[in-house]
Amino acid sequence: MALNNQAAWFHKTNEKLQIGPAEVGKPGAGEILIKNHAVAIAPVDWKIQDGAFPLTGLPRVLGNDVAGEIVEVGENVSGFSKGQRVLGHAIGLVTGRPEQGAFQNFTVVPAIAVSPIPDKLSYEEASVLPLAISTAADGLFHKDKLGLATPGHKEENSGKAILIWGGSSSVGTAAIQLAVAAGLKVFATASKKNFELVKELGASEVFDHASPSVVGDLTAALQKYTLAGAYDAIGSRDSQLNSAQVLVQLGGGTLAVVIPPIADIPATVNAKAVFALAILLQDKEVGEAIYRDFLPAALESGQIKPAPKAEVVGHGLEYIQPAIDALRPGVSAKKLVVTL
Ligand SMILES: NC(=O)c1ccc[n+]([C@@H]2O[C@H](COP(=O)([O-])OP(=O)(O)OC[C@H]3O[C@@H](n4cnc5c(N)ncnc54)[C@H](OP(=O)(O)O)[C@@H]3O)[C@@H](O)[C@H]2O)c1
Repeated sequence: MALNNQAAWFHKTNEKLQIGPAEVGKPGAGEILIKNHAVAIAPVDWKIQDGAFPLTGLPRVLGNDVAGEIVEVGENVSGFSKGQRVLGHAIGLVTGRPEQGAFQNFTVVPAIAVSPIPDKLSYEEASVLPLAISTAADGLFHKDKLGLATPGHKEENSGKAILIWGGSSSVGTAAIQLAVAAGLKVFATASKKNFELVKELGASEVFDHASPSVVGDLTAALQKYTLAGAYDAIGSRDSQLNSAQVLVQLGGGTLAVVIPPIADIPATVNAKAVFALAILLQDKEVGEAIYRDFLPAALESGQIKPAPKAEVVGHGLEYIQPAIDALRPGVSAKKLVVTL
C-alpha cells in the first residue's frame, strides 16, 4: 500500500509552520525509515523560527526527536527490522534533506542514531531522549570535548567526579544519566523544586543554581575528587561563568557547553562547544558506543529513564506549532511532545 506523508513545513523566518504533503523518504544505505508516533520539541526549533540560525534551502522540515516503528530498512543496516519500535535522532538540520526532519509522519534516520525501545516505554516517553542523549554524549565522550570513556569502558573513569550545570534540563538529565552510567560521580545544579528528580537520575549531590554561594559550595564538595571537568547544559552567560569559576577554584579544566562559549572564559578553562550531531557524523565511535552498544540494554533495564517528563501538547502535526510557541518562554523539567 502506498504511504501518505504530511509534514509541518518551515517556509520562512517568523512565519508559522504550514502543514502540507511531503514525499515519503526512501532509506539509502545505512538509513532507516520510521513512521513517527511521537516527536519532541527543542529550543532550537523556536530559535530557528525566530531567525537565530538562518537556514538555506527552504522550505525545510524541522525537528530532531522521533519515536515510532520501522517501516523500511536500507542497505548495509543490520540489527533492525520492519515493525520494530525505536527512537531516533533526525539529522535534517544539518543535511537539509526534508525527509530527514522530525516534524512529519515518516522520517529517514541514519541507523547510527536509532535505538530499539522496550515495550514498557511509550513513544511519547521515548521521544524525549534522542537529541538530549546525543548532545550529552558529545560533550562527555567526544575526544575533542571532555573525552571521557563511554559506559562500556567505565572503569577508566573510576574515582572521577563531574559538574553538570542545569541538571533538570533535557540535556542535563541525559548528561547526568550518561555520566553516572560511565562511572562518574555527578555534582549537579537545579532549582530546589527539581532536586528530587536530579537525585533520582543518579546525581550524588545537587546545588541550587540560584544560591549566591553555589560556586563556593560546589568547589568545597568537589575538591576531594579527581575532577573530570564540567558540562554546562544551559549555556547562559551566568551558567558558563559559574561553571568556569568552579573549575578555576579547583585548578582549571575543560568545560563542555551547549552553545558557543563566551569570549571572557578564564584562561585556565578550556571551553568547548558541544554539537549533538558530531557523534553521529564525525566521531562515530561515540555514536555507536551510545546508540548501538549502550542504549538498548540501558532502556530495557531502566538504567536510562525517559527524562524530563514528557508533556503531550496534542495529537497531530497541527499541534507542533503550538508546542513550539509553548516552549519559547521556557519550561522547567519537562519536554513538550506531540503524538502522531
Ligand atoms: N549544541 C547542541 O548541539 C545543542 C543540542 C541541544 C540543545 N542545545 C541547547 O542547550 C540548551 C538547553 O536545551 P534543553 O532542551 O536541555 O533545555 P530545556 O530542557 O528546555 O531547559 C529547561 C531547564 O533549564 C533550566 N534553567 C533555565 N534557566 C536556567 C539558569 N539561568 N540556570 C540554570 N538552569 C536554568 C531549568 O532548570 P530549573 O527549572 O531547575 O531551574 C529548566 O529545567 C538550549 O540552549 C539548547 O538550544 C544545544
